[in-house]
Parts: sequence; structure tokens; C-alpha cells
Amino acid sequence: MTDSALRGPATTDRYSLPRTLFRKFVHWASHTFILSSKRTRRTRVGDVVLDVPPSVFHPGVFVTSGMFAAHLRRLDLRGKCAVEVGTGSGILALSAALAGAERVVALDINPNAVHAARINAATNGVADRIDARLSNLFSAVAAEERFDLIISSPPSFAGEPVDIADHAWVAGPGYCHLRNLFGSARRHLATGGEMLLLLSSDTNIALLKAWAQEAGFSWQQVAEKSILIESFVIFRLQANVSERGGADRQPLETAGSGSGPLSL
Ligand SMILES: C[S@@+](CC[C@H](N)C(=O)[O-])C[C@H]1O[C@@H](n2cnc3c(N)ncnc32)[C@H](O)[C@@H]1O
Repeated sequence: MTDSALRGPATTDRYSLPRTLFRKFVHWASHTFILSSKRTRRTRVGDVVLDVPPSVFHPGVFVTSGMFAAHLRRLDLRGKCAVEVGTGSGILALSAALAGAERVVALDINPNAVHAARINAATNGVADRIDARLSNLFSAVAAEERFDLIISSPPSFAGEPVDIADHAWVAGPGYCHLRNLFGSARRHLATGGEMLLLLSSDTNIALLKAWAQEAGFSWQQVAEKSILIESFVIFRLQANVSERGGADRQPLETAGSGSGPLSL
């Protein structure tokens, strides 16, 4: 990923104003025509069939969902316990289950998303392994619950959500709704576990990285996809070596990859 993306939203490059205007247009168009749609739409992403009710982030329209889902499907999650923060249609939680996870907790602040995740888990044959809960970050997760894998593709932008659908897009002024994401994730991470986080180059990545490091995570880029105006990056966060008792470990492996690290 480029240095400018790591610094957060570009402010000085000559494309800054057109990019800002374009993002505002995309936000308005997605809210008006997709998130505020009055009907449930059916879509397919890879081999996963999903019903997307009104107000829920559409994984067939936004490329981040398919990118992250494909990444998860390459992992060997057999026997692992996972949680997704901000599940939307449930696509990433389902992908973790289809990659072998024995249990996946799917959290969302939007009740329509929680309902969709349950329906979509049943449609794709993994209802017995998906536990969808209405939750603000980890609020519906018991203090003693621990996860081998924490997944999140949070809202990309700062700003006050105007309605429940808008929570898919904006994370409060200064990203304040994500302030406790990393501390909570750290507390719910099993020993040797990791967090996978997808962020846009338009997000203030530097700020989120600082919060993650403050919570005791190391931060490493593992995948990137660029589209015309933006790139999307998956980061792997692991508890700092000192905090996991000096025991270093390999990242989650790809299915059938033997002992080698994830190949991207
Ligand atoms: C960018 S969408 C991603 C949806 C889905 N994971 C995907 O990749 O298609 C972000 C999701 O996070 C949810 N969300 C936003 N703030 C949240 C919070 N504080 N707690 C739980 N979920 C939240 C939104 O409702 C939305 O479903």
C-alpha cells in the first residue's frame, strides 16, 4: 500500500478535491439507492447466496465483501472459533464457517443485519454454526468469551450516521464509534489468535493503527485490492509478543498449505 494511504485520507495531492466530491456522491448514491432500498434483494457472491434486506450493506455491490470473503475462504479455520464485528448480510461470518470454523458469532448494531445473517446462514447450510447477535461492538459478547479469529470490515468514514443504514458507512465523528473496537477485541482474543481488519485507503488508517497499537496489537498488511479511486487493505493484527508470554506463532494457515504461512 502506498505511503499516502497509510497517512490516512489524502489532503495534499492534486486529486484530493475530486476524490472527496466523488466519495460524497458515492455515499449519497449508496444511501439513497442501495441502503434505503425498500425491498429485499437476492445476490450471489462466489458460491454464497445472500438475501439483503433494506438498510443492510450490499455485498454484491461493494467489492470489499467479496474480497474479504475470498480471503477468508483460503484460510484453514477448522476447529476455530470466530467472531465478526459488523456482519451486515453475514457474508464474512458465513465465509469463516465455510472455511471450517466450528462456531462464528456474527455481531451487528443493525437489527435488519442480524436477521439477514440468520436467514443467510440457513440458506447456505451453516445455521448450526452461526450465532447472530444484535450488538454495539462486543456489547452482546460475554466477558469470558474468547475467539481464535476476530473479523471486521468497519464503516470507512468519519461522521454522524443519519439512520441505521448509515452505520454501514460512517463510524461517528472522528471514528469515535470504533474507539473501543481494539481494546475489546484484545480482551476477547484467545491466546495465539488474530484479528483480520479490512480498511479503505480513504479511512484514517493512521488513527486506527494507533488505537490498535495502544490496545497491544502488532499490525501487518496481508492483502490489497485497488480500484480506480481507492484501495482496500486487509491487515492482520496479533497480540504483541510480550503480551502473549513471548510465545511467537505462525499466522492462520491456508487450507492444505502444510506448515507455511498464509500465501497472498
Ligand atoms: C462496511 S459494512 C460491512 C458489512 C459486512 N461485514 C460485509 O463485509 O459485507 C459495516 C457493518 O458494520 C455495522 N456496524 C457499524 N457500527 C457498528 C457497531 N458499533 N457495532 C456493531 N456493528 C456495527 C454496520 O451496521 C454494517 O453492517
